[in-house]
Amino acid sequence: MPAVQRQATARHYLMCEPVHYTVSYEINPWMDKTRYTDVELALRQWRTLRDTYLELGHTVDTIDPLPGLPDMVYAANGATVVDGVVYSAAFRHPERQPEGPAYEKWFVDRGFVTHTAERTNEGEGDLLTVGDVVLAGTGFRTERAAHAEAQELFGRPVVSLHLVDPRYYHLDTALAVLSSDAGDPQIAYYPPAFSPGSRAVLRTMFPDAILATDTDAAALGLNAVSDGKNVVVAPGATDLAAQLRERGWEPIPVDTSELLKGGGGAKCCTLEIRR
Ligand code: ARG
Repeated sequence: MPAVQRQATARHYLMCEPVHYTVSYEINPWMDKTRYTDVELALRQWRTLRDTYLELGHTVDTIDPLPGLPDMVYAANGATVVDGVVYSAAFRHPERQPEGPAYEKWFVDRGFVTHTAERTNEGEGDLLTVGDVVLAGTGFRTERAAHAEAQELFGRPVVSLHLVDPRYYHLDTALAVLSSDAGDPQIAYYPPAFSPGSRAVLRTMFPDAILATDTDAAALGLNAVSDGKNVVVAPGATDLAAQLRERGWEPIPVDTSELLKGGGGAKCCTLEIRR
């Protein structure tokens, strides 16, 4: 059977170069501050990721990294942008709290309409736009009340999903949006990361979803970035890559192993600006 023809659309991303990257505190199970982090390697991997987007024809803007904010490289957490409206991030852990205003200022300075969050939320780490809806994670970082705040702001249905495995503390570590096309929204996810009720919701909403394996999840393979056709994914997510290829997507392995020491992959480093 010939695979479905997938369509890429040009994307606009915001990224933050990991100039000040290190693991100096531990706020997720991937982080071990006694382990050495190689900032030069992190920078090389990050530049390869950025260049991959540019080669695919996407636009990449960057925000200046601030000293003392080693996790600022995980730009996906910096805000959520839907229809040109920016919902700022309000971080759970004090170590990351200054990132919220820093990212919001970037958008304000460029003339975006921004809404300063009243509720704790970690941007696109937990708020993923797929088709006409927003899938929203809770359980570790983003509070449920933020889902309601986002729904009111964006005027789109926000579907709450409960995360239960601390290794998959953000929604974007357990679920990848593959096609955001409202006519045919497609995702991949790792079922064990979700509560039974949330799994049932995902099965109902996305009966054709790709189900990731333990191997995919452990490589943070769900932390992938798709333009509708090309899917930038961790090289270790081999089962996921095979399933993607079989279903007409083009997996593009990009190694972000050094950034995995902070608990993030390609998607964490990439905030999508949706006009
Ligand atoms: N060290 C960061 C944290 O724990 C990693 C964030 C990863 N970002 C993401 N979008 N999942 O907050």
